[in-house]
Amino acid sequence: MNGGLVDLVIANGILVTPDGMTPGAVAIDGGRIAATGSDAAMPPARRVIDAGGRHVIPGAIDVHVHIREPGFSHKETWASATAAAAIGGVTTVLDMPNTNPPTATAKAVAQKIALASPQALIDFGVYGYIGEDNIADLAPMARAGASAFKLYLGSDNPLVPCPNDGAVLDAMAQIAKLGRRVTVHAENTGILRWREAQIRAAGRDDLQAHLDQHVDIATVEAVSRIALFSEWTGCPIHIAHESCRHSLPLIADAKRRGVDLTAETCPHYLFLSMDDAARAGGNALRVKPPVREAGHAGPLFEALASGLIDMISTDHAPHLQDEKRQASIWRTAPGFPGVETSMQLILTQVAAGAITLPDYVRMACEAPARAFGLYPRQGSLLPGTDADIVLVDMNAAGIIRGADLHSIGNVTPFEGMVTTGMAVMTLVRGRVVAEAGRIVADHGWGRALSAPA
Ligand code: NCD
Ligand code: ZN
Ligand code: ZN
Repeated sequence: MNGGLVDLVIANGILVTPDGMTPGAVAIDGGRIAATGSDAAMPPARRVIDAGGRHVIPGAIDVHVHIREPGFSHKETWASATAAAAIGGVTTVLDMPNTNPPTATAKAVAQKIALASPQALIDFGVYGYIGEDNIADLAPMARAGASAFKLYLGSDNPLVPCPNDGAVLDAMAQIAKLGRRVTVHAENTGILRWREAQIRAAGRDDLQAHLDQHVDIATVEAVSRIALFSEWTGCPIHIAHESCRHSLPLIADAKRRGVDLTAETCPHYLFLSMDDAARAGGNALRVKPPVREAGHAGPLFEALASGLIDMISTDHAPHLQDEKRQASIWRTAPGFPGVETSMQLILTQVAAGAITLPDYVRMACEAPARAFGLYPRQGSLLPGTDADIVLVDMNAAGIIRGADLHSIGNVTPFEGMVTTGMAVMTLVRGRVVAEAGRIVADHGWGRALSAPA
């Protein structure tokens, strides 16, 4: 602070933390939160933003996004993805390693950070890939800035093949010593391969065939196995994109046993089922793991509300229109964008009274920051921490339209959904990057989480 004068005060708001809501203000100086408290207690500021009685929350942290660069910049770039994120109220993302080249060596980590940095509008971390051939690279990747690691179980992407269980155990034993968490795409490779062959041989190529391939037990088994491996090796794990209510007792049991396990689910598993296929564009609903039949969303939402599932992420996975609109399910690219629409979808549940705004801050801001070693610098409103702040208008009505999204691949299964509540201003380290749905900062403001100062 310079003579008691701070850079910015956000006044006349309602500050939201997991513990509750209080009317008040935030003072920001040098990119950090200088103070929170009543409007009257704020220091003089160069600039005052009147929150107009709206809610002030920490920026959301999305630990599961596929930004696509390098290799697939026709689907998404660091510039487009971080614009979508900023407008959606997200101030930090963790990017997945299934790019080309995959993020599988220290050099690839450094190259991705160098590619991302001049484009990013928000802060970001990158995942390192775990494979059979790069176990010796795990420690160098962490030193090069990998924030966490990604383990594919059940993937059929040749860029990021699934390591065998022996290699998984060795990798987890190494990562246990690195102080990083392993995010796991948990499905059983053998079950998926076998069933795909059977189903294709039967001549089926519809959306239901994709669901029948990915039977519940394929993910339930992999969640169970990876929790056991975590318990055995001491390696912290994070269950990616939980889609199945039958996994919930296993997650609860692992937590009871003291396994260092966290879990996420995504809006498409909470708000969609196979019953929504027609509205979501038929085969375009394809995602791995699948959006299942009705009956999973309710238990998943309850688990998220109770904290059994720790956090909300999106598995933001954009593909082009042509890649999504295919007659055969086997040729339809899996996944869709999510980073821009997640907050407004969950806030709609807040507006409906299903959860509270403090619950939302816990699952979208605090929990991901804690799980990935970012707390309290991110995910809190504590003095001294990064001023990553979002102004939320709980009365703002919205309609989700793919054409309005800032991702390049903009086919959304939430097309036409009516929402209540959204981010109206996003600040990253004290700077306004998005306001009323527009980007107002320069690309390059975003920083790599683990980059040397
Ligand atoms: C992801 C993608 O497209 O990169 N697709 C998906 O259906 N979720 C890959 C993944 O997360 O497994
Ligand atoms: Zn996955
Ligand atoms: Zn993913």
